[in-house]
Amino acid sequence: MLKPIPIKDDLFYIGVNDRTKHLFENLWPLPKGVSYNSYLLSDGKTALFDTVDICYSDIFFHKLEIALSGRPLDYVIINHMEPDHSGSLGLLRNRYPNVKIVGNKRTADMVQGFYGITDGVMVIDDGDELSLGKHNLVFNLTPMVHWPETMMTYDTIDKIIFSGDAFGTFGTLDGGITDTQLHPERYYDEMIRYYSNVVGKFGSPVQKALEKLSALDIKMICSTHGPVWTIDEQIKKVISIYDKLSRYEGDEGVVIAYGSMYGNTEQMAETVAYELAQQGIKEIILHNVSKRSHSYIIRDIFKYKGLIVGSPTYNNKLFPEVEYLLSKIEGRDMKHRYFGYFGSFTWAGAAVKRLAQFALDTKFEVIGEPVEMRQAMRHDTYDACISLGKAMAERLKQDR
Ligand code: FEO
Repeated sequence: MLKPIPIKDDLFYIGVNDRTKHLFENLWPLPKGVSYNSYLLSDGKTALFDTVDICYSDIFFHKLEIALSGRPLDYVIINHMEPDHSGSLGLLRNRYPNVKIVGNKRTADMVQGFYGITDGVMVIDDGDELSLGKHNLVFNLTPMVHWPETMMTYDTIDKIIFSGDAFGTFGTLDGGITDTQLHPERYYDEMIRYYSNVVGKFGSPVQKALEKLSALDIKMICSTHGPVWTIDEQIKKVISIYDKLSRYEGDEGVVIAYGSMYGNTEQMAETVAYELAQQGIKEIILHNVSKRSHSYIIRDIFKYKGLIVGSPTYNNKLFPEVEYLLSKIEGRDMKHRYFGYFGSFTWAGAAVKRLAQFALDTKFEVIGEPVEMRQAMRHDTYDACISLGKAMAERLKQDR
């Protein structure tokens, strides 16, 4: 059976890898899997940081038992209640009836609601401290990153932040646990996808949390997903990724997301992309919304400042997959994008009207003239798509 992995003399990784699930939250593809991280700090008192998805409780409890080496489990600190982390909590209480469950008042409410546990719960508030012996823990409440009870726990002695989902990534830990044992580059795009898909709506609470963290000297980040960050340069990088994403700041580049039933609307997308490239824009990503999972389109929309959406008219509405994408963009309160749009129809146009409304609702800066095509591309439509691409490129270049 698997064993706990020591990170420091008294800190053990007892998380698990999930290479089975196809969809995280039953929504987001997991081609590289995901890890559910849990840690045991073995001091004068023992403290566990979060548990794991219940599907992996057997392996988890085995590792925990070895890491405890016959000692009692004194505390389980709940930084986040979503069941990918709290799923094994009920079983944990059955196995360790004397363990104190530590969380804030919102955590306590969810512990009761999800698991029916009301006793042995220690309710802490922002800034409260808990001494384990040598180590001293300080609780930082960081609500809405991305649930209301989310918090981060700071070990003032080893300067470790147990950050919950924050700074987490998709992708399993294939042997290595810390950034010294693996290639961090492998995880950055999956960190952006994790953030934009799961946390993306909550830019303002994330900014507040980062402000709180800026007062701390952080030597290690122990998140609930992905690598443990220990290298100073990597710690700075992951914090800066979160900072940039939560301010909805994009790089120079354009995502062109389009629907197309028979390839006519796709030709509009290709033409706009061609002109962007002619104008010197290098990062141009075309996504066919019917083929590419929205998870990746959302990731790229968070990465780049320019967004162009194109759609055929379908049943006097937007093409359904494009409408679904718009709902995901709106659901994340996406801000600060340069927005262009185009649409097509065969006998009555509706797509461009709907995209115009979307631009108003999101308050995106509309770039160029929207292009509307009837049936198939002719010279005037081609020229209008070229103009749209040129206008977007010029707007982006103003920010250089
Ligand atoms: Fe990893 Fe919000 O759960």
